[in-house]
Amino acid sequence: MFQRYLLVFSIGLIFFKDAVITVDVTIPENTVVGKTGSNVILPCIYSSTPGSQFVLEWKFAPGKTAPSDGRQIYYYSNGQTYKPGSQSERLSISATPPVTGIASIHLNNIISSDSGSYVCEVNNPPDFSGTGSGIVKLIVQVPPSTPTCQLNGKAIAGSDVTLMCSSAEGYPTPVYSWTFAGSKVSSFPSMLENEISGSLLITNISQANSGTYQCLATNDQGTATCDLTVSVTTAADAGTIAGVVVGVLLAILLIVAVAIYILCYRRKQKKAPKPDYPGNEIREDAMSPGMREGRRSSQTDSYLLNNAATRHESMVV
Ligand SMILES: *[C@@H]1O[C@H](CO)[C@@H](O)[C@H](O)[C@H]1NC(C)=O
Repeated sequence: MFQRYLLVFSIGLIFFKDAVITVDVTIPENTVVGKTGSNVILPCIYSSTPGSQFVLEWKFAPGKTAPSDGRQIYYYSNGQTYKPGSQSERLSISATPPVTGIASIHLNNIISSDSGSYVCEVNNPPDFSGTGSGIVKLIVQVPPSTPTCQLNGKAIAGSDVTLMCSSAEGYPTPVYSWTFAGSKVSSFPSMLENEISGSLLITNISQANSGTYQCLATNDQGTATCDLTVSVTTAADAGTIAGVVVGVLLAILLIVAVAIYILCYRRKQKKAPKPDYPGNEIREDAMSPGMREGRRSSQTDSYLLNNAATRHESMVV
């Protein structure tokens, strides 16, 4: 039993020894920085003479993903090249074939999602095994994306509110500055901005603070802005608005109630038996007294008018 353990241990030791001796991967530049749209080289060199089982592999772990969770993007073995992954069209190897000690790759027309860790891995097993790997970090510089402006709190006179501004993308990390009605907020004593977090604190807000606020996100690649319109209400306004809302709701309730009543009433009428006389003609006749009445009343009006005119004349005379 013990002998078997010793054997396993010895073999392990041999593997380890080989790994150190046979392949030594070096990354001359650990971090590569490039602008969006540019071409970069991710450098990797190894000191080994490739044998027939030589394998070169590159893996990519996007963003802050752990390098060990990277997905294969390049694979070379025995004269064959494979480029799985979405970057394949923009990806090429420096030395073709990569058997001279240079394992660097070129990545063209870089985009922000190319940022992350690239793992260069060389396997060269003449004596069973030999592994070496190294990590290159790629940082893609991008101008700030259009930030989102947002109001935290209620803009009621006398309260404190915070305006928030943040760009989802941008490298180097953007800094933020606010203007109110075209002036820097530093000229307003009640306003305090934080250029790192993008927040703007307005204390004891008043109606004078109503208007348009603009946030500017900046890095050395460019700028982007967003606007936020704040309208400050007084507590009384808030009461009025609440009153109006309640009033409107009551009105809607009333209308609904009336509608339901009418519907039910009509249904009841339909169910009730029809009266047994020709109602229509009689009703037409019934209109005429009304019309006569109308005529009568207009006569009354002119009588009154004449009367008033005479009265007026008499007053003048
Ligand atoms: C808030 O502002 C009003 C005028 O806009 C002022 O009268 C009041 O004293 C202020 N309150 C505080 C706590 O500063």
